[in-house]
Amino acid sequence: STDASTTSPINLESPNCNIPPHIADRVLLTPKLYQQPPHPLCTIKEKIETFFPGFDYVDSKDPIVKSTANFDSLLIPPDHVSRSKSDTYYVDHPDVCLRTHTSAHQLELLKQGHKEFLCTGDVYRRDDIDKSHYPIFHQMEGVKVFDLLPEGTMSDPEQNVELVMEDLKKTLEGLAQHLFGPVECRWVEEYFPFTHPSLELEIWYQDDWMEVLGCGVMQPKILQDAGYDTTKHQAWAFGLGLERLAMVLFEIPDIRLFWSQDERFWNQFQPGEITKFQPYSKYPPCFKDVSFWVDDAAAGDHEAAKNFHVNELNDLLRQVGGDLIEAVELVDQFTHPKTNRESHCYRITYRSMDRSLTNQEIDALQEQVRDKISNQLNVELR
Ligand code: PHE
Repeated sequence: STDASTTSPINLESPNCNIPPHIADRVLLTPKLYQQPPHPLCTIKEKIETFFPGFDYVDSKDPIVKSTANFDSLLIPPDHVSRSKSDTYYVDHPDVCLRTHTSAHQLELLKQGHKEFLCTGDVYRRDDIDKSHYPIFHQMEGVKVFDLLPEGTMSDPEQNVELVMEDLKKTLEGLAQHLFGPVECRWVEEYFPFTHPSLELEIWYQDDWMEVLGCGVMQPKILQDAGYDTTKHQAWAFGLGLERLAMVLFEIPDIRLFWSQDERFWNQFQPGEITKFQPYSKYPPCFKDVSFWVDDAAAGDHEAAKNFHVNELNDLLRQVGGDLIEAVELVDQFTHPKTNRESHCYRITYRSMDRSLTNQEIDALQEQVRDKISNQLNVELR
């Protein structure tokens, strides 16, 4: 790693901060999982690094970044949905956020002179709750800058793009084999504001195509902002999610397991080795429904219905139940024919990865959940 590890402070009291305490704790207090052998995320990260010898490995950039780095520097338009407060955690809206992808460091690292690098980091997104989504996950970014002159033989920009694209595809197909062994790959056209053309790599896995990474030829504007003459230089970039790969390679069935402190999880792994995870036991789930009108009639605030976002509920649930919340699912939704009010019913699945939960414990949690919903969300419980 080439940089010092520091994390900026977070003021949870600020009205411009939408980060719940349980997320702030993870940002500020939790050691990086990808730096803890024999953690599976660490094993995968190191296995990917060995496929890129000679690259600079950067893995301790501050996850708190300027929104200009996370969005503007990557040519993400000002009105893009990913910037909304219901998708992104802001330390100080709209200027400072928790990075939503490791691409946030592309421009900065290029400016510092890195020409071939991998950048690993924890990234944060407000999202659904289920077996494969968690508000914190981990990404690796890869970037390679090409010197296409001075020979002068490859000065045609279109030809340059093709050369870079060819190298990118060859490299990433190689990476897929390096990780999965012989595996069928396919390329799917994608769109990212910061690359053109953009592609997604998918592999054939368990009778279906699985998305592995996004990539493309870096937009010349970004290279220019980093000080490069784009008649002489082009670059490729890719970004991949480590959890998705680790869940497949280690057969880890639920994304919450990556955060387990249980030694029955940790003891199964050896540094540098990819082995199949043996679930130590499957504890029974418990389902609880909660229904509410997504506006607050008492407050006469019918406009609120438009402002309700399920991610608000998800953060609230994780604040109360932490990793005991396995899934949250909208099971019913209707508009009352007379009052025109909109009702949502969500099914919450409670289940621990490590132990059995008692009815009492779950009832107490559900009680707290209902309290918090009626106090903190602008809705009316039914
Ligand atoms: N940052 C993109 C994402 O999180 C992935 C990506 C990285 C795509 C680099 C292209 C180039 O989805």
